[in-house]
Amino acid sequence: MPDSQNIAKQNAAIAGAAMVSHGMAVGLGSGSTAELLVAELGRRVIQDGLEITAVSTSERTSQLARQAGIQVVDPAQVNQLDLVIDGADEVDPEFRMIKGRGGALLREKIVAAAGLKRVILVDQTKPVIRLGTRHALPVEIAAFGQHWTISRLAELAHKVSLRCTSSGDPFITDGGNRIVDLQTGPIEDPEALQAALLGIPGVYETGLFIGLCDVLIVADSNGVQIRSR
Ligand code: A5P
Repeated sequence: MPDSQNIAKQNAAIAGAAMVSHGMAVGLGSGSTAELLVAELGRRVIQDGLEITAVSTSERTSQLARQAGIQVVDPAQVNQLDLVIDGADEVDPEFRMIKGRGGALLREKIVAAAGLKRVILVDQTKPVIRLGTRHALPVEIAAFGQHWTISRLAELAHKVSLRCTSSGDPFITDGGNRIVDLQTGPIEDPEALQAALLGIPGVYETGLFIGLCDVLIVADSNGVQIRSR
């Protein structure tokens, strides 16, 4: 990642962490920007005595958050999250997003839906006019009967591929599922595609996040721009 993109993500993370206040229940996202957020929140916990309760969207984020001194609890212990902060792979002008490059999309969506306010942190490379322009669309599916599910997904995309690790084994999500990446090209109607994908047996969730961003923080290496819906 170029240095300027790293600095941008850091700027976004600091701005996101500044929205967290004492006593909040906070949903923590996954991915490199969310990890910078966790580090900044950890700094505030240790240095400023900030007290928060966090629910995490991945095992990796949980581990990092605990190491940083943040109290991470099971979702069952929290009724509602005051704030959920996460990253995204693409964001369109209507704040619709593609997420899931890190493979945590199912938990990310469950946590986002439990949030009173959802804040998304992106660097300036993430906004697009149409979703699907730069990134594949990840879809989380059941391992059972995956070849049937993948055949059906192939009817809705130019190309589909089962995500694999560097050693060639299937990537397994924290929930024990598989990820299929769909090359869609620019998506004309994200809502219709979401409905079609969810209609396929074996599909648990898609990386299309619609209506799940209230505040968008777009950062570059000079600072941040905060946009609200
Ligand atoms: C994780 O599954 C993703 O949804 C991430 O939030 C998304 O890929 C953004 O990641 P970066 O912050 O690493 O760009």
